[in-house]
This record gives sequence, C-alpha cells and structure tokens, in this order.
Amino acid sequence: MCDGIGRQAPGRMATLAVRKFPAPVTSREVFMGNDALSILDKRTQATYEVPIEDGTIRAMDLRKIKTGPDDFGLMTYDPAFMNTGSCRSAITFIDGDKGILRYRGYPIEQLAEKCTFLEIAYLLLSGELPTETQLKEWRKQIIHHTMLHETSKKFLEGFRYDAHPMGMFISTVAALSTVYPDARNVHDPASRNLQICRLIGKVPTIAAYTYRHSLGFPYVYPDNDLGYAENFMNMLWRMMEPKYTANPILARALDILFILHADHEQNCSTNVMRSVGSSQADPFVSTAAAAAALSGPLHGGANEEVLKMLDQIGSKDKVPAYIAEIKAGRGKLMGFGHRVYKNYDPRARIIKWAADSVFEITGKNPKLEIALELERIALEDEYFVKRKLYPNVDFYSGIIYQAMGFKPEMFTVLFAIPRTVGWLAQWQELVQDPEQKIARPRQIYTGYEARDVVELEKRALATAPVTAQP
Ligand code: ACO
Repeated sequence: MCDGIGRQAPGRMATLAVRKFPAPVTSREVFMGNDALSILDKRTQATYEVPIEDGTIRAMDLRKIKTGPDDFGLMTYDPAFMNTGSCRSAITFIDGDKGILRYRGYPIEQLAEKCTFLEIAYLLLSGELPTETQLKEWRKQIIHHTMLHETSKKFLEGFRYDAHPMGMFISTVAALSTVYPDARNVHDPASRNLQICRLIGKVPTIAAYTYRHSLGFPYVYPDNDLGYAENFMNMLWRMMEPKYTANPILARALDILFILHADHEQNCSTNVMRSVGSSQADPFVSTAAAAAALSGPLHGGANEEVLKMLDQIGSKDKVPAYIAEIKAGRGKLMGFGHRVYKNYDPRARIIKWAADSVFEITGKNPKLEIALELERIALEDEYFVKRKLYPNVDFYSGIIYQAMGFKPEMFTVLFAIPRTVGWLAQWQELVQDPEQKIARPRQIYTGYEARDVVELEKRALATAPVTAQP
C-alpha cells in the first residue's frame, strides 16, 4: 500500500473514534489501533482520535470537533480540491511522482501497445479485458448505436458556419437527452448500459458532423463494417468514394490516442461528471457538462492552445525569448504542468513515440521542431525544474492531430470522444456506490451579517458597480 489519495485501497473499514463534545477523551479510551490521528483542540483542550484509513481521514469526523453545542463543528477548506479525495474508485490509478498511469491495474504502455480502444472501453466499464467473444458482442452493441436521429442531425445544422466544434459537440450531446427520455432511469442497470452504448456509439458521429458542418460538407453516415477509429475517419473525410479506406497506420495512431485519453481519474471534467451525475441527472446532460469542463484551456482545451502558442513562437530560434516571457509571469507554457504529475506524463511519452509513425505517412509537422526545442529548454531550466513542470498529454497530441489534417478547433473534440468512456465508467461507479450522495460542498461565508432592506427611495447611492459582490 502507498500513501496519498491516488493509492490502492485494501478495503478496510474503520470506526469513528471521536467523542462527542464536550468530554475530552484519551486515545487509549477510544481507539486501540495505531492508524489514527490524535487531535488536540487548543480552544477547548479536548483531544480526539480520528481513524486514518488508506492515508486519509474522513472530513465528517472533524465535524465532531466543536467549541460548544452551538458550534457547527470543524470543516476543512480546500479550494480546487488540492488535497481532498471525493470518492473510492477502482478504475484508474495514477502515481504522479513516479509518472505511472494504469487502467484497472494494467500499465498504460501495455494497453496502448496491445489493445484497441474498444477493448479499453470494455475494460474501463466492466473491470476486465474482454475475451474474443465478449469483444465481438461489445462491438456489436456499440455499432448498433452509431447513427444519430435525423432530428439531431438537423439540430447540428442550426449552428452558424463558424461555430466552435466543441460548442456544437457539448450542445448536441446534451440534446440527446431529449431524444432518449428513458435515460433518466439512472437506477436501472439495463437502461444505464443502453445509454452508455448509445453515447460511445454516437460521440464519434457527433464529432465528425461538427467537423463537416464547419467545412460546409454533407454529413457522412457511419459505416459499421469499419473499426471505431476507421469509421470516425470515414465520417470525417469520405468524399465521393463509395467506400472509405483509412490508412491503417493513421487509424492505429488515432486508436492509440483514444486509448491514452480514455480516463484519468478525478480530473476537472470527471469531477463535473460525478457532480452532475450525483443529482441523478441523466448521463447525456452529465456528459455534456463534463465536456464543457473539458473545453477550458487549463484542461482539455490546452491542446488547441498549444498550437496557437507554437504559431505565436513561429520558429525554433524564438523559443528562448518565449520562455523568458513565461518566466517573467507573462502567460503559461501551454501543454506543460499538471496537478497530479510531478514527473513526465507517461501519455506524452507514448504520444511522442506514436508521432514518429504518423509523420512517416504525413511528413513532419514543422511545429515539432519548435515543440522539441521548448521541451529541451524547459526541462533544463530552473524555473520549470523547481516547479516540476513537464510536458502533459496535450503538448504533443495537437502536433499529431494537425499532421493528420485536423484544424486546432477540433482537438478538444478529439479528446472528448474517448474521455466519454472514462466519464461513463466513473458515472457508473458513482451511481452504484452506496457512500455517494448529491455532491454539495460547504463554504466559508464572507458576506454581511443579517441586515434590513431599505425602501428603494431611501437607499443611498451604491458605491460599488452593479456587478460587484460584497
Ligand atoms: N507554465 C508556466 N508556469 C506554470 C505552468 C505552466 N504551464 N503550470 C504551472 N506553472 C507554475 C505556476 O505559475 C506556479 O508557480 P508559482 O509557484 O511561482 O506560483 C506553479 O507552477 C504551480 O502551478 P499551479 O498553478 O499551482 O498548478 P496547478 O496544479 O493548479 O495547475 C495546470 C495545473 C492547470 C495544469 C497548470 O500547470 C497549467 O495551467 N498548465 C497549462 C495548461 C495545460 O497544459 N493544461 C492541461 C493539463 S492536462 C489536462 O488537463 C488534460
């Protein structure tokens, strides 16, 4: 067992050992084991013993620490969840210090090398890799749901020609909720499974349609003879040919990119999926909300920002000057840094490796030279070394996507397709977890005490502008 939040849990149960106010307690009285935290509340001189389980204490145990019967009890304050575990999860394991990523115990490197994306989807959702027969059945279930209802297609047609593909993606996924009202039945396992298959089947279709829409091209229907990535490529790029044939090396590279992006435990968008799902909202609107979180430039939107940054830098010789700007606090190096990884992101390493095979087909993306120089200088520079800032998954993915022919605006949509599987696996785990309830954080109120409303005509001119909060 290791320490910290992202650690494997042996599944022990511990009992609360905190005594109710006001009687102070000794550790011997209440807790016999060593896995406990002794707390002395200097305000009352009371001592408390709080069990430590899997390297964590339960925040609710602190509620018992009070200065008096009217005291609400102690809370933790953790903006941005820097040190708070919100769930138990058996899906994805990350050791950020060592640069380790595993899905259901399997190292990401082995999964990327030996599996296809649909096997990974099965693994994340069911807990095990499929047998050949299970994979065949699973594929059948997914391809059965690749078509969009014609009304969804028309819905997409309503967007402006220059609408951002991510905005179209988010809205269309949310709109599926109106097509499948049965999805509200979140406690029915059969219904959950059906919605999961619908979403995994349809997100490539939606993504491809947003792309075709932005180019003004007619939509291409799915071809269910093709693999998951090949069919996506078919819907993106087929023109007049009766049957689309994807380049197998590019299709495999895309499939690997899908594998790498499929899940990443409790990141910003997954937290949104779980938070919205905790209100028992249906999985379509929950997925749309998660995709909205993904779209931000600090999260999945970073891949698009990396390309803008490389464009802005322009050439390899301008890299040192750009790094100096970042160090002076003028902007961030996009595609660098991670809340959890304080080491090289293992996904970035695999992407760099996959890039070589893509460039053999497409020719080298000239931005690669700038990116490599950025990485080289940053990894030697004290500013980045001290802060443990390494390239993350978004640093190299955009360079491959661009070489394959995608516009930067599509990059985050390409991320959302495979991450839908991770969101759904996490949502399914949430719905089945008896410990989970509606997500509802607390706050530290910093506003006014109670005050009386003054009649409109007697109010003094407000000093603050109307948008400012007290
Ligand atoms: N460039 C320059 N400095 C950085 C960067 C960066 N990319 N990232 C972090 N830092 C600096 C911060 O300014 C801070 O410096 P300080 O201690 O002097 O104040 C220090 O490193 C710690 O950074 P935090 O902002 O506290 O780290 P946090 O965990 O909150 O943020 C994040 C993580 C959002 C990913 C951040 O590194 C970042 O903005 N990176 C660029 C955007 C990006 O690539 N996002 C994709 C992440 S991967 C994904 O979501 C799929």
